Amino acid sequence: MVQQVIGDAERRVLTAFAEAMPGPVLVVDVAMRLVAGNAAARNLMPSLKTGDPLPMGIRSPEVLDAVRRVCGGGPAETTQWVERVPVERMFEVSVAPVPLDTAGAVAIAVRDLTEARRIERMRADFIANASHELRTPLASLLGFIETLQGPARNDEAARLQFLGIMRDQAQRMSRLIEDLLSLSRIEQTQHLRPQGLVDLALVARHVADTLAPLAEETGARVTMEAPDGAVVVGDRDEIIRLAENLIENAIKYGGREGGAPEVRVEVLRSAGEIMLRVSDNGPGIAPEHIPRLTERFFRAESSAGRARGGTGLGLAIVKHILARHRGRLTIKSKLGEGSTFSASLPDA
Ligand SMILES: Nc1ncnc2c1ncn2[C@@H]1O[C@H](COP(=O)(O)OP(=O)(O)OP(=O)(O)O)[C@@H](O)[C@H]1O
Ligand SMILES: [Mg+2]
Repeated sequence: MVQQVIGDAERRVLTAFAEAMPGPVLVVDVAMRLVAGNAAARNLMPSLKTGDPLPMGIRSPEVLDAVRRVCGGGPAETTQWVERVPVERMFEVSVAPVPLDTAGAVAIAVRDLTEARRIERMRADFIANASHELRTPLASLLGFIETLQGPARNDEAARLQFLGIMRDQAQRMSRLIEDLLSLSRIEQTQHLRPQGLVDLALVARHVADTLAPLAEETGARVTMEAPDGAVVVGDRDEIIRLAENLIENAIKYGGREGGAPEVRVEVLRSAGEIMLRVSDNGPGIAPEHIPRLTERFFRAESSAGRARGGTGLGLAIVKHILARHRGRLTIKSKLGEGSTFSASLPDA
């Protein structure tokens, strides 16, 4: 069989066309040798050069079979390509014939679905987690309502006790919903630079005052070192939430068994940056948990989080607030020695 060769002018057109496309695009001849490709395709398959057989760049049998069928005269088709190493990635590959004047060719367009799939999964997890968090207090509320309507109908003492528990559960649900709403609000405004000037020292003192009742409950001793004039550009309410979450965590989780939490709140100024540092002398956090703390609904195992009614949203909110303020969160912790959470913000 005489194989026809794709002309130079056609090659140039194909290359220009591929380069105009955002995603990886390749063109092969009917013998599956690379004729043209764009930068995105070179990025994806750096070892594949013009003239090379396609299997040198793509090993996926599904994709190669599809290309083979189209090269043999078959109609256009779309297939999936999953790479497992070094990390799992998923692509959708469209293969279509390109009849040229001189010879046949086949175009291969690749779409990376990895990120879209990851977001899809995150959304599903998020809904499952949020529903689960709401279901638990709701089930308990319903249980107590039924008891009060039935067996405990005339039991004055039980009624008082149950109503107290019911109020706690309802408060827990309302806190959860408030946290979810503020997360979505912050996410929506993520791209807008915050306006306003906020004195971090004033905020830290204000938050420590509002948390005094909680500190009394856990026996925490809060010390403060915050010089005046530590001003950042920011949204006051959001900066308050940020400080609240960090200081509240230290007061809740910062005590070692039997001991009262020693919480240290510092506002520090350094070159171009202002830092809010909250340290405690608590049990600390296992190294494998540290990177996960800012995930929504994440609570370190064996922590007092569940018992103390935490929903695991606090640090996710902190992370989003800092992202909007162009700041960052650093977490240092050693098991048995306590934890330090540092939020750095650009100096106004
Ligand atoms: N100072 C700390 N010491 C030890 N563990 C901590 C500390 N701060 C946070 N953690 C751990 O990180 C987890 C996540 O904290 P986060 O603030 O996101 O959620 P939460 O406190 O459980 O709930 P929420 O803040 O929504 O009420 C906590 O459940 C806890 O296990
Ligand atoms: Mg918290």
